[in-house]
Formats: sequence, structure tokens, C-alpha cells
Amino acid sequence: MKTLRTDCLVIGSGLAGSAYALAAAKAGLSVELLSLADPMMANSDWAQGGIIYDTAPDHAALARDIFDASDGTSNPAAVEQLVREGPLAVKELLLDELQVGFDRDAGGALKFTREGGHSEKRIIFAKDATGHAILESVAQRVDATPRINRRAGGVAIDLLTLSHNSTDTADKYEPLTCFGAYVLDTQTGETIAIVAKKTVLATGGLGQIFLHSTNQPGSVGHGVAMAYRVGARLIDLEYVQFHPTVFAKKNAPRFLVTEALRGEGGVLVNARGERFMDGVHPLRSLAPRDVVARAIKHELAASGEPCVFLDLSAMTPAFIRERFPNVYERCLAHGVDVTRELIPVVPAAHFACGGVHADLHGRTNIRHLNAIGETACTGLHGANRLASTSLLECLTNAKFTAAADAGEIAREKFRLPEPRAWE
Ligand code: SIN
Repeated sequence: MKTLRTDCLVIGSGLAGSAYALAAAKAGLSVELLSLADPMMANSDWAQGGIIYDTAPDHAALARDIFDASDGTSNPAAVEQLVREGPLAVKELLLDELQVGFDRDAGGALKFTREGGHSEKRIIFAKDATGHAILESVAQRVDATPRINRRAGGVAIDLLTLSHNSTDTADKYEPLTCFGAYVLDTQTGETIAIVAKKTVLATGGLGQIFLHSTNQPGSVGHGVAMAYRVGARLIDLEYVQFHPTVFAKKNAPRFLVTEALRGEGGVLVNARGERFMDGVHPLRSLAPRDVVARAIKHELAASGEPCVFLDLSAMTPAFIRERFPNVYERCLAHGVDVTRELIPVVPAAHFACGGVHADLHGRTNIRHLNAIGETACTGLHGANRLASTSLLECLTNAKFTAAADAGEIAREKFRLPEPRAWE
């Protein structure tokens, strides 16, 4: 079995993994980054609505909105880190360094929108394909960075720990410590070991274990499963967020119909044309996602109808086509002209609020094993995530985890034995 050695092994090339790789490489570390054959096959690429860029001086309203969306179950320390550090992470990487093409007004100022649970407009966006615009820029930079080796088609199949996989039998008595992973090269069929000082789980979500999901096909929670097998602490796994609006026409595929449509005036109605969110929550159709998804479920159970509808009649056709070109085209391709017809929608599994427990520097209870992005759970989202926090969480986690790892790698001696052959 071939064994490679590196400073950091990053499992997953969505926004969290790629942003970590960039930050670690900038700090002088060598990085092996595992991606699918197409690095854009990540949930980050499908995030439509936007990313929070909060310019308020104290961020108190944003912190309140995150707490309220979670029904008071978020971890205060994680909320504090995100609201204080998130804006700088967006500015440094996305605005200044990569100059991602966010929508701007005629004077060049960033445009802001709203989504469910937000008390004000603080979300920046690239039309209705924000995740794609961000990940494309980040992936291009990753591929142009010499210290990062992106392994297309490299799939981690098990983590290496001193207790289980060292050829030195005395290592079994060491504290639980990760030193890399077995990686299957899906192009050659060969399994190799990548030995690393730091191993970073950034495998995204698990929505595809549900019947209806907004997630990419590979989102089956394999990072969480690998972490579980080596004894990592998992928390809040019962908190799976259902997005209220995925396209729901018979015999058509399910796909996300962004909440930003409701941020710009879209309204939910039932088959009789009634605005059933009135009276359910003060924010009506823009209530937090759990509230809206539950209200839709009750509405469908009571009416026996297969879906509810999103009514965009408050917007002009020209505005819809310009601001939401992807939703417009995709729905049209399946026979719904959203500039004059209601969009049939139902809720679907969208985001894992729980995952591998990690502190605010990505550290898990297994030494040298980190978890970031959707795979991790810092408690930021509690039981229900506020819209447009996920891309921001990826950037913030990546930045803090890479900085902590660079410090540790400079200070500490790592025990990196020869691993046993994969059987
Ligand atoms: C959406 O555009 O509705 C999804 C964005 C998110 O999950 O934050």
C-alpha cells in the first residue's frame, strides 16, 4: 500500500474544505484536498440565496435573529464568533481577494436582500446562484495554489487512528488520535494511506438519506459516519432542517426554490389561494424555516393536497427574470412560467444542524481530527438554522481552524507512524 505524507488532509472540497485549504496553504502548510471528480459537486455550489454580510456596528440584531430562529437553542459562544468574525472573513476572502461577482447597484455598492427569520436586509447575493459564484472563484484559486494538491476522485473510506491503524502496537495505549485516512482513488481503484498532522472533515451534509432533499447526490453523511467509527462525539443529529420550498411538480425533479423569492415579496398560498402563513407568525411567509415548513405540513395534512404554492405576483416579470434567472429557467423547463403562474412547492431535507461536535477552532474530541462546515456542530444553529448562515459558517470555521492548526504544527511534535495496510 502506498503511503503519502502531508501537513493537512482535507476531506471535502466544498466551501469549508476549500477555504481551509487556501488558509492553510497561505500559512505555509502542505495540503492534500480530496474532491469528487468535479470539485463543484458540493452543497455550497447549490446555495442559491446568499451570504450574510452584516455591516451593523454591534451585530446585536443578527445575533438575536440567529437565536430566535433556533428557538433559543444556539450555542452563545458560536453565535458570538460568527457575528463578530464573519464580516471580516467575507471581506478578506470574497470581496477583497477573490472579488466574487456579487450584485451591485449602478454606483457599485453591494445590494442586500432578506430571507426567512431576518429582521433586516443583510444578505449579499450573486443573482440566485450565490454559492456557485463563490465556490467557482474559490475552486479556481485552490487549483492555482502550489501547496494544495487537489485529488479529484479521492474518497476517504476510513480515518487512521493511532489506536487502530498504527503498525506500532504500543500506540493502542495512546489517547484517541487521528493521523490521516485511507483514501480510495476512484479512477484507479487503488487504496492508499494519506498520513497527516491534521485531518479535516469537510464532507458537507446528509440530506440524501431522506426521500426528498435539496442536497447534492453525495450528501450522505460519510464524514459523520467515519468520525463515529473512531469514537468522535456527535451531537444534535436529530436537528435536520427542512427547507420549506422545493419545486414539487409531478414527474419533475425536486430542486430548491430560494427563500430569497419570499425576501423580495413572494407569498405562500394554498390550493384555494389563501395566505395560510398570516396568523401563524408575525413574519408570515418570511418566518424562520422550521415554522414555515411545519405550517406547510399542517396545511397539506388538513387539505389532502400534494403541495402548496409560491405566488410571485408582487414582482414584475422583468424583475423576476433579471434577479432570479436560474429559478425562472429551471421552472420553465418543467412547464411552470413563474412570471405568471404559481410555483408548486413542498418542504424537503436541507441542512444538518448537528454533526461532529467541534469547538470554535474546529477541534473534535479526537486529537488532530477537525470538523468544519455542515459536517461539524459547534451549536451555532441549535435546532434550526437562520437562512444564509451556512456559507458564512464555512468561511469562519475554515479561517479559525486553519490558524489554530498552523500554530500547533509550528509548536508541536506529531507522531506519524507507518499505518497498517488497508484490508
Ligand atoms: C435558499 O436560497 O433558500 C437557501 C439558502 C440557505 O439555505 O441559507
